[in-house]
Amino acid sequence: MSTGTEQPEWLNERALEQLANQYFKALPGEEGVRQKEEGRLVSPAGPREVFDIKDPQSSLPDPHFADGRVPASVAGSGRSPGLQEVGSGGMARSGGTAGQAYYFMDFVAPWLPGKKEAAGGTGLTAGVNGLSGLVQQPFDVNAVRGDFPILKELVNGRPLVWLDNAATTQKPQQVIDRISQFYRHENSNVHRAAHELAARATDAYEGARKKVQNFLGAGSANEIVFVRGATEAINLVAKSWGEQYLGAGDEIIVSHLEHHANIVPWQQLAERKGCRLRVIPVDDRGQLLMDEYAKLLGPKTRLVSITQVSNALGTITPVREIGAMAHAVGAKVLVDGAQSVSHMPVDVRAMDADWFVLSGHKLFAPTGIGVLYGKEALLNETQPWQGGGNMIKDVTFEHTQYQNAPVRLEAGTGNIADAVGLGAAIDYVSAIGMDRIEAYEHYLLDYATRLLKEVPGLRLIGTADRKASVLSFVLDGFTNDQVGQALNKEGIAVRTGHHCAQPILRRYGLESTVRPSLAFYNTCADVDALVSVLWRLKRWAARG
Ligand SMILES: Cc1ncc(COP(=O)(O)O)c(C=O)c1O
Repeated sequence: MSTGTEQPEWLNERALEQLANQYFKALPGEEGVRQKEEGRLVSPAGPREVFDIKDPQSSLPDPHFADGRVPASVAGSGRSPGLQEVGSGGMARSGGTAGQAYYFMDFVAPWLPGKKEAAGGTGLTAGVNGLSGLVQQPFDVNAVRGDFPILKELVNGRPLVWLDNAATTQKPQQVIDRISQFYRHENSNVHRAAHELAARATDAYEGARKKVQNFLGAGSANEIVFVRGATEAINLVAKSWGEQYLGAGDEIIVSHLEHHANIVPWQQLAERKGCRLRVIPVDDRGQLLMDEYAKLLGPKTRLVSITQVSNALGTITPVREIGAMAHAVGAKVLVDGAQSVSHMPVDVRAMDADWFVLSGHKLFAPTGIGVLYGKEALLNETQPWQGGGNMIKDVTFEHTQYQNAPVRLEAGTGNIADAVGLGAAIDYVSAIGMDRIEAYEHYLLDYATRLLKEVPGLRLIGTADRKASVLSFVLDGFTNDQVGQALNKEGIAVRTGHHCAQPILRRYGLESTVRPSLAFYNTCADVDALVSVLWRLKRWAARG
């Protein structure tokens, strides 16, 4: 009956147990101390760096812009009462930085090495910054789960099992509190006024940009453009750089794995400009055929736009290699990180991406906020895609002079509060450590794969060697909707459908799949709950 017999040698019980012990059940402090020594537990929200946006970001003359920095506390302390209220464990100033009032820079999180955690975690302190005392301890999934209030929700009388993380992720209390705090104590438009709340809001917003920069390993905060999400980021590149630089006969390469967000904008551009869209094929397991990719590359290739993790199959693609091959023929490279950033450490400079896009809501942050990373020179060589306030240096009726990146590409008022929420989400995952998240999820994915393969008549779609989070499948004898509904009755949320990736599903002769997808707050018990419903369905079908 079992279809899951072809396990790799290393994926046996003992190896899994050893892996689990090594990563998640190490003696308290052991793993943390090692990571601390290697500097990996230090939050990327580095407290001391000078914020370096070069250009003034206001259409108003303002002396505080004179040194080319985003103004912080132009009128007051630059410190939110909401933050002060949280007590000694909260976002306290670290002191010794006279003359600077960027609270986001002075902020030393209480959970970081060298800073004592707030004793006992007093209410808001614990809620905002406490992170359940995760750092310097082995990964404790139960402590993590305590940070996500929605995981206590009952659905159809059962505790919610959230396995729809590729569609969107749940939000920790720290993110929810940070947004509420913004609206309670900091809300203002940014950059444009000389009053206290504008300073607080600007500090918080630009602080979030800096956090994204560090999280992605970008060279400068100027390379971080806030957008609505990955879709908007890709459209931005197509409608600005693509419109400006591509022409008839030019070729754009995508892969068969792509989400519609990384197909449609290029197709639209290709139609407008007379370009040609070319597609890297995949093998039966959902892995890119790199030899075929090499054959597609040539002097006409201007862009390779590739996902780092497939949302439909979970395949991790070799983006660094893909990028290097594209650069060798003079093409630019866009990496769609919508499905990767929440599962693994990302370094845009190491992968040498020209652009990298992500959606906040898939990274435990709110909807409506996302990021376009772009190399600074490239962003500054790119025509703006939207015009309006914020992105200009000077406007007359005859002519407009634009700002440099990032604001050159951020016309109008951005989603300020949710950008701040994104910063809080980044603090959250960084404090746990993306490498620990990756290791734990790898373990969980192996566990789930093993169990799913044992369900009779279950066909896994996407069995690449390197995968993250996603377990797409179809179950013989049941429609995907039937499976989804049976799971929902037990409080288990999975996605059924085409996952906005029709071409890759059709590659396997399918229009839709059932797609559970994991995040670091999921457990083996969640997987067990999923698999037991599938077994029950099969038993029920066998009884006729
Ligand atoms: C790989 C990938 N790219 C792009 C997107 C689009 O993201 P958003 O809808 O948040 O803009 C998604 C969403 O599922 C995705 O999985």
